[in-house]
Parts: sequence; structure tokens; C-alpha cells
Amino acid sequence: MDKSEKLALILSGALLVVFFGAIMYAAMAKDIDVPTCITGMDPFTTDTLFQTGPDSYELQMVARMWAFQPSTVRLPVGSTVDLYVTSQDIIHGFKIEQHNVNLMAVPGAINYIRVTFNKPGEFLYACHEFCGAAHHTMAGRFIIEEGGL
Ligand code: CUA
Repeated sequence: MDKSEKLALILSGALLVVFFGAIMYAAMAKDIDVPTCITGMDPFTTDTLFQTGPDSYELQMVARMWAFQPSTVRLPVGSTVDLYVTSQDIIHGFKIEQHNVNLMAVPGAINYIRVTFNKPGEFLYACHEFCGAAHHTMAGRFIIEEGGL
């Protein structure tokens, strides 16, 4: 084997270790997770928000041309939300500002991610897939309040 081939192999192996380490660091230390597509649950048609524990909630979000339901969600600071997103018509996007949430809203499917709101304030969520004439109006907001609801 040529010396340069050996060097390329060693560098490739080292890069694999670095990339794997970066993925493990993101998953373990930064708690960054990949959104999950839920397969064992029928797509819902109405939005729902309910409490599942002292600081935890489940939110089922419905996207349709050209709004999200619900359009406003009020929660106390420190809430952890199991967020399920689906669409009633075409493909939309769902992104929450200042949070690591970026999902697709797909008709006939449900996407899931867990998000924690550690700061009070208003956080816009918006569609990030061009979905037609009123795409730019498709938004809502989380209102995260101090001291509970
Ligand atoms: Cu929905 Cu853009």
C-alpha cells in the first residue's frame, strides 16, 4: 500500500471518530434529538393541550392552509411539552423561534419532538415551507409566563 493511501485511510478513520464524537456530544451533553415520525397513532384532526404532570404537557398541533391550531399557547416557565404536529391538507413546516424545534407537518403523518420552555416571553412559531398564497400569515405564538397559569 502506498504511503499516501495509508495516510488517507488514517485521516478518514480519524474523521469518522470526530464525527461520531460530535453526534454523541450533541445527543448526550446538549440533549439535541432528531424529530421522530410517530407511526402507531392515528392522525388527529383537532388541536389538544393537556397537562400530563406537574411541569409537563402534551400538545397536538394541527396545521392547515393557512393557520395553526391552536394559534396561541399559554404555558408556565419550565414547562416541558410533548409536541405532536400533523397537517390537514398539504405539507407545512413548524419552527419555534429561539428553540431547537423544526418539524414538518405532513398530512396523514404525525411528527413528534419534546421541547422545554426555560425562559419567559413570547415565542413565534411559523410555517417554514412555502404552502401557497397566505403562507406568510401562517404563524402562532407560545406565551410563556412566570409563576404558573
Ligand atoms: Cu404553511 Cu407555509
